[in-house]
Amino acid sequence: MRILAFIGALAIVIGVLAGGYFLGGFYSVAASASDAGPVVWALTRVRTASIARHAGGQPPFALDDAAVLRDGARHFAAYGCVHCHGAPGAQWSKFAEGLNPEAADLSEVAKTRDASAIFWVLKNGIRMTGMPSFGKAGIPDNELWQIVAFVKKFPPVCQRATTRVGARLRNELLSAGCLLRF
Ligand code: HEC
Repeated sequence: MRILAFIGALAIVIGVLAGGYFLGGFYSVAASASDAGPVVWALTRVRTASIARHAGGQPPFALDDAAVLRDGARHFAAYGCVHCHGAPGAQWSKFAEGLNPEAADLSEVAKTRDASAIFWVLKNGIRMTGMPSFGKAGIPDNELWQIVAFVKKFPPVCQRATTRVGARLRNELLSAGCLLRF
């Protein structure tokens, strides 16, 4: 019985201390502060598991279709992805270096995530990070799938463009942030 009373008292003390710490303003919400290793590990696990459980949509068209890729490249530029994520040959905007967590490396995402997971992230965003919900912003699903197609082909689309695309597609890729150094 005594031990139960002790545990109860301890829980109350911990609750009061935690309340004082967080509500008293001692916890820093600064993006310039870095999180402790276990916090980063836990947040990454939660994010990966959440995306895996919720994702599941199927693309309404073939993602390697040239017209789909071209439209995806155009939307990638128009909706501002390049400001945070950059693109092969294109620098992200300076402010992106102040994001915490930092924006994902999309050439890595292209290799490790399937299309339905990428679509889910574009549509819903990732809470309490800089990644916006483009569904909430009113972008239709078919445009998001076009962007998924572009993200899945991330480095190859841009590299191929340096050698054998016509002038028109080259201009569109340029506006999507590719080839800016050419
Ligand atoms: C304001 C900055 C910002 C903009 C604009 C932005 N993103 Fe992101 N994005 C982020 C951040 C930050 C993360 C990392 C979130 C995290 O680590 O949990 C992210 C994550 C992602 C991921 C998930 C990677 C994963 O781990 O599964 C994808 C895919 C992605 N972004 C694609 C896009 C695309 C495509 C666009 C444009 C339609 C876009 N983002 C616009 C900041 C941004």
